[in-house]
Amino acid sequence: MSILRIGKVAINVLDLAEARRHYGEFLGLAETASAPGTAYFKGWDEYDHHSVILKENDRAGLDHVAFKVRFPDDLARIESTCERFGFPVQRVSAGSRIGEGEAVATTLPTGHRIEFYQQMERVGIAVGNTNPEPWPDDRRGVGVNRFDHVLLTGEDLEGVTRFFVEGLDFHQSERLINKEGGLLASFLHVTNKAHDIAFIKGPNGKLHHVGFYVETWDDVLRAADLQSRHRVRTELTPSRHGLTRGLTTYFFDPSGNRNETYAGGTFPHYDNDVVTWTEDEAARAIFFHGREMIPSFGSALT
Ligand SMILES: [Fe+2]
Repeated sequence: MSILRIGKVAINVLDLAEARRHYGEFLGLAETASAPGTAYFKGWDEYDHHSVILKENDRAGLDHVAFKVRFPDDLARIESTCERFGFPVQRVSAGSRIGEGEAVATTLPTGHRIEFYQQMERVGIAVGNTNPEPWPDDRRGVGVNRFDHVLLTGEDLEGVTRFFVEGLDFHQSERLINKEGGLLASFLHVTNKAHDIAFIKGPNGKLHHVGFYVETWDDVLRAADLQSRHRVRTELTPSRHGLTRGLTTYFFDPSGNRNETYAGGTFPHYDNDVVTWTEDEAARAIFFHGREMIPSFGSALT
């Protein structure tokens, strides 16, 4: 089985016009298509047609996340893996959404819908791939390079980790454990990013945040300048995570979905040992500089 990366997140938003301004003009994603109540976006450094779908809904939160696989027959293998784990499986036919090929969908024990796809229409990166400039002239707002990862909340972190590691051949990069050794956070990667998908202990089915990649600490600082300039509700000014060592800001879209700009971080390999954080160091693991838990971190979920 060959999963390439997390490729797409579909986010429910309360007001599509406001969300378009946030993800398009502020974050700098490019809108590649739209349908009634739905808009499709990509980062300037992404090849595929879209990595973010905004869906107007009466509740904010996650619609689904999707992983891109390398080979067509990977979909059938994933289907049998989901069945072996006793998860529901459904096929989504090609063309159900703009630019997308066939997908396999399942629901995790944490209540999140995830999909796997092999084909998506190709658009290409904004700077082209012959003698490219390092960034495009028309980079807008924060100008994030790409969608990077999601953090979700759920109750059965052991179960969901087993599915990703044993079923889908992901690797756990880092974890946070309580005194009894139970998982409070599980960071999982299939690329050598610090995380493609991560889970923290909390209510099932909730979105904690969607992370967008920027290249440097200066980009994180500039993102925070723009957050203030555009009155974007901000939870965390530029800082570092202990977990993953990532450089970060946390802020919210107009519907209350948390976003993150994320730079740096570790580049784990599959033969790395898992990095363990203990519960007594949880605040430092998440907010490495402040070393105190920000109350909204655990409660502002969509
Ligand atoms: Fe993150």
